[in-house]
Amino acid sequence: MKLWGGRFTKEENQLVHNFNESLSFDRKLYHQDIEGSVAHVTMLARQGIVSEEDREAIVDGLKGILADLDSGSLSFTREHEDIHSFVEANLISRIGEAGKRLHTGRSRNDQVALDMKLYCRHEIGEIDGLVKGLMEEILKIMEENLDTYMPGFTHLQKAQPVTLAHHMGAYFEMFYRDRTRLRDIRERMNYCPLGSGALAGTTYPLDREYTAKLLGFYGPTLNSMDSVSDRDYVIELLDAMALIMMHLSRFSEEIIIWNSNEYRFVELDDAYSTGSSIMPQKKNPDIAELVRGKTGRVYGALMSMLTTMKGIPLAYDKDMQEDKELTFDAIDTVKGCLALFAGMIATMTFRKDVMEASAKNGFTNATDAADYLVNHGVPFRDAHGIVGQLVLCCIGKGIGLDDMTLEEFQAVSPVFEEDIYEAISMRTCVEKRVTLGGPGRTAMERVIQVCKERLQE
Ligand code: ARG
Repeated sequence: MKLWGGRFTKEENQLVHNFNESLSFDRKLYHQDIEGSVAHVTMLARQGIVSEEDREAIVDGLKGILADLDSGSLSFTREHEDIHSFVEANLISRIGEAGKRLHTGRSRNDQVALDMKLYCRHEIGEIDGLVKGLMEEILKIMEENLDTYMPGFTHLQKAQPVTLAHHMGAYFEMFYRDRTRLRDIRERMNYCPLGSGALAGTTYPLDREYTAKLLGFYGPTLNSMDSVSDRDYVIELLDAMALIMMHLSRFSEEIIIWNSNEYRFVELDDAYSTGSSIMPQKKNPDIAELVRGKTGRVYGALMSMLTTMKGIPLAYDKDMQEDKELTFDAIDTVKGCLALFAGMIATMTFRKDVMEASAKNGFTNATDAADYLVNHGVPFRDAHGIVGQLVLCCIGKGIGLDDMTLEEFQAVSPVFEEDIYEAISMRTCVEKRVTLGGPGRTAMERVIQVCKERLQE
């Protein structure tokens, strides 16, 4: 049962068939394949290349196949090489002669390029929706935590106090960039390869503008050789997904740290944690760990695809069939991770008291103590040295800067007055940082307004 049996004298070897076939995975494209065929035959009839009756029979037949595949009453059988052969053979067995006219002016090369594009375009929408859902959860946490103080870190060492809203806002930015990237890819890829034939177009008077329009593209692609061999959009999508996973993975890592017995900044919901088979006390952040782990899988898909494409001559080569399994797997992985992650953070509890206490006991106000001196005329470099001495003294005594007496402050620098306590309080440290992008409430409120607008885009 081969589309191309005419030229061959021998039956295909079973191992060769198994090695060559793609139906076991490109069956995922049946919706797109049928949608493309309906557009193609509609155009063929409009151009007078097939009759109106044949068009009707073909469209009915294709719709029947679609319905039967959707309902499960038709199943994929192993003898077919790929989804394109499967649909065509099935059509011919349903409607006879007319079915044999469907492939006029078309090749599987432009057909598969179209199917992959339709699939990726659809999935871009799905992924975008999931990223948006996650951003909505992040925004909720931001709005509720403008005054939840926590340590901000650099080198995973406590640095300066920030708020939970501010920390979450960093992820909002990352996922916002991810969405703009998805949007860019969709814009760039949205041109229709159908009508490019095997590589050199066709001699039939096809109307490529028309099929492009029927399928929701901006227009047809402009070079038939490029059209059948272009998988840039697959690579771009894998790249965008690799970045989404990188962001999710960093976020996961933080949640894992925050959920650790040492930090206790968050408590994962029971529904999003798992236990140990041996240690009864354990409640493990498996979901976050899996998201972090699956990042490697998506990076791998990107590297595979780049490598597959790097040495193949124009135009279509069978190497390109390798685009499917890894792209499908990467897309399913990213979608699964996004959905699970959003659920995990939506149900997670933040231990605000622990976060705040942690911000207090790590000298996160040391910069502000130095700034106090600067505001009283001390050069910053000297102020840095003075506060360094104070910190050293506090470490020796096991206390924080705010626990020092005014006499102790003044013993190191006479510039200190009673108002130092207010100047280095957590509230002041955060609320004075109102440069745009900073954690202070007025700055954050402005940003949250922009975040809301971005979610409406
Ligand atoms: N299964 C093939 C793929 O995924 C479809 C195109 C096959 N074309 C060909 N001339 N063999 O790329």
